[in-house]
Order: sequence, then C-alpha cells, then structure tokens
Amino acid sequence: MKVIEVRGLSFTYSGQDKPSLRDINFEVGEGEFVLISGPSGGGKSTLCRCINGLIPHFYEGELRGEVYVDGLPTSKTPTHILSQHVGMVFQNPQNQLFSLNVESDVAFALENLGLPREEIRDRVDEALALMGIEDLADRSPVELSGGQQQKVALASILALRPKVIMLDEPTSFLDPMSAMNLVELVDRLRRKLGLTILMVEHRIDLIAPRADRLAVIYEGQILYDGPPRDFFEKYDGHLYGVSVPKLARLSKEMARHLEWPGVILDIDEFERVVRLIAGHRL
Ligand SMILES: Nc1ncnc2c1ncn2[C@@H]1O[C@H](COP(=O)(O)OP(=O)(O)OP(=O)(O)O)[C@@H](O)[C@H]1O
Ligand SMILES: [Mg+2]
Repeated sequence: MKVIEVRGLSFTYSGQDKPSLRDINFEVGEGEFVLISGPSGGGKSTLCRCINGLIPHFYEGELRGEVYVDGLPTSKTPTHILSQHVGMVFQNPQNQLFSLNVESDVAFALENLGLPREEIRDRVDEALALMGIEDLADRSPVELSGGQQQKVALASILALRPKVIMLDEPTSFLDPMSAMNLVELVDRLRRKLGLTILMVEHRIDLIAPRADRLAVIYEGQILYDGPPRDFFEKYDGHLYGVSVPKLARLSKEMARHLEWPGVILDIDEFERVVRLIAGHRL
C-alpha cells in the first residue's frame, strides 16, 4: 500500500523566480525506508515540507500538483491532523524541545490534541520505553546530550503514533557514535512498528546499507530513485552531490581486478565475498 503519493509537484517560494521543486513524482510504500540525498539547495527539505504540510500551510509560494499522505491531501488537511500521520525530526534537536522536562515535552502535542489524561500517560510511557529513555523522564531537555535530545524529539513524534517519520539531516549535530546509534534505533523502530521512514542524510555510509531506496534530488528534480547500490554502480555520486561510500569505491576497484559481484554497501556482505574469493584462490 502506498503511504506517500506525490504527483506532478512543483513549488516556488514567494519572492523566488525559480521553482525549488519541478514536476516531482514520488511514491513510498508502507514500511519502506527511503534515503534522500543530493547537493545543498537541491530541494530535499522543500520536498519534506510538502509531505508534512508545512508547505503550503506555513510557507508561502506557488504550489502545483498533489501530495497525499496516508490518503490525506496535505494541502487541504490541517497540520494538527497531518501530524498524527507524519512526524518530522529536524537537524537541530534544540529547536524542537521547549518544556521544563522530557516528559512534558513528549506530552505536549498530545495535550494540544486534547486527549484524555490516561491516554496521554500511556502514550508518553510507551514512547519513552520505545526510545529506551525512561530514566530521562524528569530531566531538563537543555541539559541532555545531542544524541539524547534527538531521542526525546523522536519520542515526542512517536507518541503521536504516525505511520510515516521523516528525518531531515538528524545526525548533523551528533558525534559518529551517537549518529550510528540513532540510525540503528530508527531502523529497529521501523521493523518493530512497521513505520515508513524518509531520511535526508549526507552520511550515506551509515544509512545506504539499511535503506530500501535512495532518492537523489538535484536542482529540484528526482535524478535517481532506486536501490542504493545501483546508483553507485551507474553514477559517479560526487557529480550529483552524493558522498560515495568507501565500500562502493572499494567494490569498484575490486571489480577491476577480481571476479567481484558489483557494488556492495554492507560491510558483512563485503567481508563474506572477500573470504569467498580468498577461499577460491587458496
Ligand atoms: N524559506 C525559503 N524561502 C525561499 N527560498 C527557500 C526557502 N527554503 C529554501 N529555499 C530555496 O529552495 C531551494 C531548495 O532548498 P532546500 O532547503 O529544499 O534544499 P536542501 O536540498 O534541503 O539543501 P541542504 O542540503 O542545504 O539542506 C534553494 O534554492 C533554497 O534557496
Ligand atoms: Mg535541507
């Protein structure tokens, strides 16, 4: 089942003469993990804003085409309704946290929806448990590490029980270890809850092995949409603002000298193939 459908989408911000998105057609099935990449200014964040309804509800401009999330037309659906279907985690977690303690931050949107007190309690407990941050419930968000803050931001979204979670460069402010933890956690949640994930990221090494698809957005258009390994097989990622994973580079080099099965992005698979080839040569 399609949970996101984008048809003939173009958008020009007010005051700009060039469109930031041009005739985008894009679909995402339930439970898919899509990695979005491409050069700075290509239109990745703009596409996310069209999917979560910030465009056209908060940003002014000229919008053409249609976007449906979970069957709802985003331009005609109020954002408080959309937020129960699609949640968004941003680059800087500090911009999303504003309450005195973690628990009230996670409860905030639920209170705004006017849910009964017991239901809020249940959902907050569930979200904190899913993120493994029950011990942070009484802490002040501003005192937490970047990785912990990103988990609180994600818990606040999970509490709304959306089908789709979009993350726009969620690891930019994190150290490599916290970035890896966050990506693993998101992938585990996807499997456990059947969530659909759209993640804009430049750390391709980390995410490509887990993603079902890579979408490359370049000058407002979708340049590529398909399996991550095929992109690196066919294109020189650098030319399109996509950082090339080290394993992709190594794979291509291996294929020049050995019987190598093309681009491999997963380190365990890479190791298995090396062992297999080394075994044949002994
Ligand atoms: N609020 C805005 N008002 C006017 N123009 C904007 C606005 N936000 C983005 N743009 C323009 O839209 C185009 C696409 O920007 P967008 O932020 O979507 O790119 P991006 O791919 O997310 O880039 P980055 O990797 O730097 O985050 C750019 O030309 C940018 O200048
Ligand atoms: Mg962006």
